Parts: sequence; C-alpha cells; structure tokens
Amino acid sequence: MSISQEYIACGEKNLLHTYNRSPIVFEKGDGVYLYDAEGKKYLDFAAGIAVFALGYNNKEYNDALKAQIDKLIHTSNLYYNIPAIEAAKELNSIAGMDRVFFTNSGTEAIEGALKSALKYAYTKAPADDYEIIAMEHSFHGRSMGALSVTGNSHYREAFGKGIGHIKFAEYNDFESVKALVNEKTCGIIMETVQGEGGIYPAEKEFLEKVRKLCDEKDILLILDEIQCGMGRTGFMFAYEKYGIKPDIMTAAKALGCGVPVGAFAMTERVAEKSLVPGDHGSTYGGNPLAGAAIVEVLRQFRERNIVQHVKDLTPYFEKKLEELASKHECIKETRGAGFMRAVELDRPVGDIIKKAQEKGLIVISAGANILRLVPPLVIEKEHIDEMAEILDSLI
Ligand SMILES: Cc1ncc(COP(=O)(O)O)c(C=O)c1O
Repeated sequence: MSISQEYIACGEKNLLHTYNRSPIVFEKGDGVYLYDAEGKKYLDFAAGIAVFALGYNNKEYNDALKAQIDKLIHTSNLYYNIPAIEAAKELNSIAGMDRVFFTNSGTEAIEGALKSALKYAYTKAPADDYEIIAMEHSFHGRSMGALSVTGNSHYREAFGKGIGHIKFAEYNDFESVKALVNEKTCGIIMETVQGEGGIYPAEKEFLEKVRKLCDEKDILLILDEIQCGMGRTGFMFAYEKYGIKPDIMTAAKALGCGVPVGAFAMTERVAEKSLVPGDHGSTYGGNPLAGAAIVEVLRQFRERNIVQHVKDLTPYFEKKLEELASKHECIKETRGAGFMRAVELDRPVGDIIKKAQEKGLIVISAGANILRLVPPLVIEKEHIDEMAEILDSLI
C-alpha cells in the first residue's frame, strides 16, 4: 500500500462520509502546483474551490501568518485587535461598504447577512414573518439558514422546512422576482455570478432592475461574492462591473487565502437599523490570525495588481477554451467571467476530471456536465496552455 492509500483507507474509516473524495492526498503546494504524498505534481485549476488566489507557499503570506502566530492568535471579540480593525477598514473601502462582521466561513457570512436583513425589517416594524427572495440554482452554504436560501431542492429535501419565509425566483428573470415581492419582502439574495449552479453571471439589466426595485420598496439587496469576489472576475468584487452596489455583501474563500475567514458587510444605512450587541457574535470570527491573513491578502492584491492581471489574461483564457470548444463537438458552451469559467459538455464530466488528475491537472465540476475552472489568480499564459493541452488530450 502507498502512503496515500494508507491515509485514504484511514480517512474513509474515520471521517464522516459527506464527500465522494478523489483518491488524492495532497501534501504540499508551490505556486500554482500541488504535490501529493508520493510527490506527483498537479497543475491546480481549482485553487481549493476558488480560495488560494495568491498561489501556494507564498512566502510573504506565510511570513505574515507566522509573525502573527508569534504575537497573538486569539483573544475573542470582547476586546479589540489590531489586524481585524485594519482588515475591516480596508475591506469596507474596497467593497464600498461601511461596517463589516468577520466570520469563519462563507456559510456563516450568509447567516449574518440574512439576520441583518431580517433585523433591519424588524427594527422598522416588528414582525416574525418577513420574507426573503432567493434564486433557483443558487448555492449559499449548508447551515440551516444558508441552506434555506440555496436553490437546489436536492440539498434541502432531508432537512425540513429550513428557516421558512423563503421564496425562489428564476435568476436573470426580473419578472419572476417582481412577482414574488410583497409588503413582507425584506431581502433579495443572489450570487453576482452563480458558481455551483454552473457559472452564470448575472445579466446587467436584471441586476439593475432588481437594484431599482429594492430601492423603491426599501428591500435589501444581498450580493453573495463568496466565490465570485476577490478579483476572480477581473473586478475586486463582481458587482463593480455592473455599476451597482448591494446593501449587504458577503465574502470568504480568497479573502483569507487558506485561513478560514468570511465576512458580511453593509452600508451605514442598513447598519443603523440592523444588528446590535446581543444580536450576533462569534468566538473566533475576526481573530488576530484571521485579521492578519486578510490584511496580507489585501496588501498583495494591491501591490501585485492581481485584479488587473486577471483582467489582462481573461481574453487569452477565453480564447483557449473557445479553441477547445471548436475542436470538440461534445463541448456545448464555454462561459464565465474572468478566472471563473465553465466548459459545458453534452455528457457527465466525472470521467474527464478523473483522467485529468491522472495527467496531473486538477479541475472540478459545477453540476454533472460542467467543468469549472477557478485557478489561482496568479496563473500565467503558460499555465493556461498546459491546462488546455491536457483537456484537449482527454475530451
Ligand atoms: C457563492 C457561495 N456562497 C457560499 C458558500 C459557502 O461558503 P463556505 O463553504 O466557506 O461556508 C459557497 C461555497 O462554495 C459559495 O460558493
């Protein structure tokens, strides 16, 4: 038995079986490559599901974390800590928000965003039946609140009614949203680019109309930027491209680049009528280590001009995938935004993902027939070529 096989057997015995994992045990990473326990090298076009934007074994990031570990890892939110305050100031500034709450995951950021919207409505007029509109085919997480707004009934079916008072509209169909709005609607939540649902960017007109509707009726627009935010689409946050701003936004994944962090942030107008002491909290959320990770990630984004790099390389990425599609009839469509791309086939992609792994390429799916490419944001042309060559040889 290889080292990997031994660990896989032990993992299968001890871990709760909530994932059908690929039979790979990753041991280390360097740049845009991962290495398994036997030393096999893989080009990573998944980035830990859109997390490791700045590449693995990033010395400055590692050093910043090590320095913070030696200083202070945790104190609780009963006190102030410098990294979290610096992270809050910077995140608010780049997201166009005024107040942020740090969480430990994207799911928790969604929970906070939902609670913020409900509390905003409650402050205006106390009631226990406010409604939130979410989108079909969306994904927002697996806790009961986040699951309740996730538009995949298969994920929800075993878990009862969820938090209740949630209605689902069709993404990119304004009339379907408008039809669900009533005097009880307090929030509309959606991903700016649907990720798990198959990589579908919001259409400009749709988002503009939803924004306008929210303004007219004082409904809070919550944009989930957990996957599509942090430079992935060639904008720091995907909504920038649309020239609109949400009332509440969520971020996670690449915000910590490997340290588990998330955030929900809101404008002052919302904060004034929303969560107050006693309404929300977290033991770990925004602790000094998490704060230091965010500060360092944002520093590198700034200094390395990461967003511009994504913008510059996007046409090349698109072109390579289009070339692939023109060669292979089984590819129905390629689409996406920036470094968040889908290759949709006319058949399940499980076999391609497996064969790609054998050839040293990590890609993931977004639905049965869709390959999802969400590489580290620091990839170069040569990595796109390498990915395209491997996919070309297998499709
Ligand atoms: C758009 C979106 N929202 C929320 C989540 C949940 O985030 P997490 O897995 O960090 O809890 C995800 C995770 O994939 C996501 O893609």
